[in-house]
Amino acid sequence: MLVTGGSGFIGRHVVAALAEAGAYVRIVDLLPHPEADVDIVLGDLADPDVLTAALAGGFDAVVHLAAVTSVLRSIEHPELTYNTNVAATQALLEAARKSGVEVIAFASTNAVAGPMRSRAITEHEQLHPLTPYGATKAAGEMLMSAYTASYGLRCACLRLTNVYGLGMQAKDSIVARLMRVIRLGGTFEIYGDGTQVRDYVAVSDVVAAVRLALTREDWQGPVVIGSGSSLSVLDVLDVVREVTQAEFDVRHAPPKPGEMPAVVVDPSLARGRGWSPQTSFEVGLRRVWEEWSRADLATVAAGAPVAPVSAGGHA
Ligand SMILES: NC(=O)c1ccc[n+]([C@@H]2O[C@H](COP(=O)([O-])OP(=O)(O)OC[C@H]3O[C@@H](n4cnc5c(N)ncnc54)[C@H](O)[C@@H]3O)[C@@H](O)[C@H]2O)c1
Repeated sequence: MLVTGGSGFIGRHVVAALAEAGAYVRIVDLLPHPEADVDIVLGDLADPDVLTAALAGGFDAVVHLAAVTSVLRSIEHPELTYNTNVAATQALLEAARKSGVEVIAFASTNAVAGPMRSRAITEHEQLHPLTPYGATKAAGEMLMSAYTASYGLRCACLRLTNVYGLGMQAKDSIVARLMRVIRLGGTFEIYGDGTQVRDYVAVSDVVAAVRLALTREDWQGPVVIGSGSSLSVLDVLDVVREVTQAEFDVRHAPPKPGEMPAVVVDPSLARGRGWSPQTSFEVGLRRVWEEWSRADLATVAAGAPVAPVSAGGHA
């Protein structure tokens, strides 16, 4: 099994779970993996030599996570975002097809849908991405669709909502930003009035979806992966205060460009295909806080992982 982006937040969980299940796993990433015994090809997936080395020996399956993952960074660097999220994805698909890969699980996003036009986002939404990040993920999905239809390479595009869990110290998403403010001090910025709603899904539930996508033939095309129950930023602050019992300063800042006004998803398709979220936001957040609260301040300040992630089904 090849995992692109295997040194990242979700990647480290996927690698641990697949290895625990007995799969031979290689990763390809710009950054080293914190565990020395992981088989890694270090480099840029967009580099043809790196891609060739990554697929050398042949794999049945690929989990494609490597990407420019920050919405704001994608707005600042649209060409880099295109090169990584589209051109490298096309190169990966072509090399995978030629080397006999049978299935690709691709980390997409509900940001492909753009502003909500119905009660909840499903796979049937017309795509109106608001940022280079959303647009390049949509393009990745289209390429996956073509490779499935033209070459029989089964591709499952998991449209993830906001993923949180253990080992997210390097992330800039809301849960990590809150944990940093609580541990390091400072002020938490609420972008806009804080009533915007988001869906939060535990990384262990994302790993379960990846494993189903790799093994079940009916996982093909886009599949929405989210808890199905959204919280406003103000709700999240309430849960965080309750779980951590911490006091912290907040201030309102202007909304960030490209922010989706609301994200409410309906994961019925995934449910019908054997997946269901197992971890509530409160339970998952308690585990995250347990991890952050015992980390030393230097580790938190460096954004370094606190501990190796395990395959034990944590948040
Ligand atoms: N975390 C979320 O909330 C979320 C939500 C929706 C979708 N996703 C998608 O899930 C995937 C994984 O996200 P994550 O949160 O683990 O992100 P992450 O940034 O922690 O991990 C991404 C990894 O990809 C690597 N990478 C980036 N560009 C590369 C390149 N050109 N060549 C090789 N490696 C490269 C990075 O070094 C990093 O280790 C991404 O595709 C992301 O878009 C994540």
